[in-house]
Amino acid sequence: MEAGALLPDKLLSRISIAKEELERHSEVRIVSHYDADGISSAGVLCNAMLRAGKRFHATMTKGLTDQLVQEAAEGCELIIFSDMGSSHLDEIEATGCRAIVLDHHAPPRDSEKIVHINPHLADIDGMTSASASAMCMLFAVNLDERNWDLLHLAFAGISGDRQAIRGLSGINQWLFEQGAQRGVVEAVPGSLYRPGRLLDGLYASTDPYLRGVSGSREGARALLEEAGINVDASSRDLDEAQGRKLSSLIALRLVEQGVPAATMEEAVHERYFFPRAGMEAGELASLLNACGRSNNEGMGLALALGDPKALEGARKLRADYVNEVMAGLERIARDGVTAMENIQYFVNENLGLSGILCGVTMQYLGDRDKPTIALSEHDEGVKISSRGTFPLLEQGIDLAVAMRESAAKVGGFGGGHRIAAGATVPKGREDEFLAVLDAMIGEQKKKEA
Ligand code: C5P
Ligand code: C5P
Repeated sequence: MEAGALLPDKLLSRISIAKEELERHSEVRIVSHYDADGISSAGVLCNAMLRAGKRFHATMTKGLTDQLVQEAAEGCELIIFSDMGSSHLDEIEATGCRAIVLDHHAPPRDSEKIVHINPHLADIDGMTSASASAMCMLFAVNLDERNWDLLHLAFAGISGDRQAIRGLSGINQWLFEQGAQRGVVEAVPGSLYRPGRLLDGLYASTDPYLRGVSGSREGARALLEEAGINVDASSRDLDEAQGRKLSSLIALRLVEQGVPAATMEEAVHERYFFPRAGMEAGELASLLNACGRSNNEGMGLALALGDPKALEGARKLRADYVNEVMAGLERIARDGVTAMENIQYFVNENLGLSGILCGVTMQYLGDRDKPTIALSEHDEGVKISSRGTFPLLEQGIDLAVAMRESAAKVGGFGGGHRIAAGATVPKGREDEFLAVLDAMIGEQKKKEA
């Protein structure tokens, strides 16, 4: 979909059907994912329900199970799944409950029994061009034009799912254009350092992750001194020459770290600022993410609903989350990862941190020629996260397929996107899983070659 293009009819007609479905009910059950995209999706939906005068009950979960689908459907009039559901159509249809699915994961099939809204059904890639929150936003603005004031939430999902790193496209781009026309959003240039107090920004930076600076206040201080910048300065205080000096020093360190130019370009991607919310999308995404990944999804949703106390609480949670992420990354930087022929992996105890640690390791710490895998044990099995890069996708790698099929071979389940996917496998079968996955990634590369 080019800039300025219209939305596909197939999506619009499904959204109209969903709107009619909603009009028939006074109460809605909402089930969404626990990450930034999932919480922002639920945030868009809950705000829209409030405005429409509907009662709602929202739940955020790490993953959809048969049991959760059944429990959620019990006694409910209408159920909306966001950022999940496309891979669980059998279970959702079996409940017989009226249902709307607003998902962006590649669906194995379509449904005639429920309202299935997914960008892939209109040939739009849900990995790069439509977050789940963007799909929920399309639905919300179709319900009520006033819902354009929720665009910051949609963009928190777009940013959290790393869909802005190579520029906007598809539904995300359409939303930006429409929002900009309404004065809701502004595009601002990105940089290698964050807006705000520089010392804090450098300490907390994962994109880029700078060895010896990210996670180290002394390292961050030393870098600022080397750039001739006051250690208490904020990004706003920098003149052009100082800003350039700091960026060049960061870029130089990244080159020494072996980070390719393409990754740096992704890190400096354009940002999206929301004047009414007084916040940039990435900032909101990091707050929501910290809530979700620390089992405080409720606070994330309260933040999305505009509770000022939740903003304060989420900032505190983020400070702890950043410290934990940095400790995890320092450990990986120190101990390294285990290399197999086609993949690399590490074990991580904190389930909520696996995705972020895996992504940063892939981009900034590990071998860029091998997909990165993180394993964390929990009560119900071993949770696996995997991350790749765009050049790896060009070699034929599809992590969604590899995770789904490798997990199934050892009695587990998985899925996701080509570049970022996950799975759960039974305890004790993780070595077997890694061997199957390693071979499968090798096969994917061979096929493409
Ligand atoms: O469930 P969901 O689709 O929302 O999660 C996608 C995950 O994949 C997010 O954690 C996101 O950060 C990650 N991702 C990534 N690199 C990309 C796209 C997504 O690490 N290019
Ligand atoms: O958990 P993590 O952030 O690593 O998940 C990466 C992607 O894989 C997300 O889009 C998530 O929804 C998806 N996933 C999945 N099935 C699983 C685990 C994760 O589809 N069992």
